[in-house]
Amino acid sequence: MTSIQPSSHPLVVHKITKLRSAETKPKKFRELVREISTLLTYEATADLPMTPKQVETPMGTAEGFELAVRVGLVPILRAGLGMVEGVWGLIPNAEVWHIGLYRDEETLQPVEYYNKLPVAPTVDVCLVLDPMLATGGSAVATVDILKRWGAGRIKYVGILAAPEGIAALQAAHPDVDIFVGAVDSHLNDIGFIVPGLGDAGDRQFGTG
Ligand code: PRP
Repeated sequence: MTSIQPSSHPLVVHKITKLRSAETKPKKFRELVREISTLLTYEATADLPMTPKQVETPMGTAEGFELAVRVGLVPILRAGLGMVEGVWGLIPNAEVWHIGLYRDEETLQPVEYYNKLPVAPTVDVCLVLDPMLATGGSAVATVDILKRWGAGRIKYVGILAAPEGIAALQAAHPDVDIFVGAVDSHLNDIGFIVPGLGDAGDRQFGTG
């Protein structure tokens, strides 16, 4: 079964509180999304496999390790875009494969509009990036796409989640670990996380 790990790290909690505030403007909002993404990535990658690697220091030989897997970042457009820089800060060689989905406002169902994945997987571990896990429809659809592609290990990294979204993702993909900054109370009748932070895409791009 999926493990769910809302962060209790004081820096994540502090930054999410600022992110939620309606007074936070897009420039600051983007900075916070980037910083929180870095902190969540540190937690989400704690179990990545490593392989031994010897290096020569100025003083002799050191027995070290390096990552044994290729990591791919899969931001869900639009809002997931803002998380990429934060993850790249820690994994600069990660490939980025964008998936374009928007939520139909009436049905709340995800509609796919962009997918340029190559024929065969080029990475071993995919980190799906999206600040908001609301109904879970977008996350489930993205993991569906990645599994059809042949992706091996998939992890979801988000900032805020509703219990409904976690339940949907767990039910559809029990093998996907979920890392989120916080789990909120519920979804309202138009599918927004409460108390949440509003629309993460609009708040990053100044389109609200
Ligand atoms: C928002 C959000 C997620 C999705 C979450 O995107 O960024 O991708 O909704 O909702 P779900 O869990 O119910 O699928 P939106 O569709 O508003 O598109 P945008 O990022 O382009 O604004």
